[in-house]
Amino acid sequence: MKQTVIIFIISALIGLAGGYTYFQFTGKSQAADAKQKTAAVQKETNDSKETVSASSKEGDILQQKGCLSCHSVSKLNLQGGTTGPDLSNAYKEVEGKHGKPIEEFLKAPTSAVMSGVIKSHPLTNEERAAIIKVLKTASEK
Ligand code: HEC
Repeated sequence: MKQTVIIFIISALIGLAGGYTYFQFTGKSQAADAKQKTAAVQKETNDSKETVSASSKEGDILQQKGCLSCHSVSKLNLQGGTTGPDLSNAYKEVEGKHGKPIEEFLKAPTSAVMSGVIKSHPLTNEERAAIIKVLKTASEK
């Protein structure tokens, strides 16, 4: 009878210890998971911060809007496609070439290719303003 009680107590202790260790491990790995997730989220936030600071770089808006796939702006050292003309002096030349100031041209281009570009990828007012600012800077160099 005494032996049974001792065996019972020992098994109970082993059971408890086992359970405790098990939960400690899974508990730990959950904590590690959570830490990893936080790290991932932090990295994402850092990444998006980087994109924001990068987008304020000169010419980045042209890259973002795909303009550089057809245009270079050699005065800003932006090497792009050759389908369209170099935009280094576009700020000054567009009115003479296309009959309207660049602001209007980028809203409703008078030329065939650019009409298509703007129709399929319209620019917001902010984007247009940013692009014009970049092209103005280029034309003043
Ligand atoms: C698919 C190629 C293509 C893309 C993309 C493109 N353009 Fe053009 N762009 C042209 C071509 C070709 C011309 C020459 C006029 C024409 O034939 O339409 C032109 C003309 C222009 C002009 C007039 C310059 C001049 O000297 O005649 C400006 C300004 C301009 N593009 C700005 C932009 C901006 C800003 C973007 C991005 C939002 C852009 N383009 C995207 C092809 C493109």
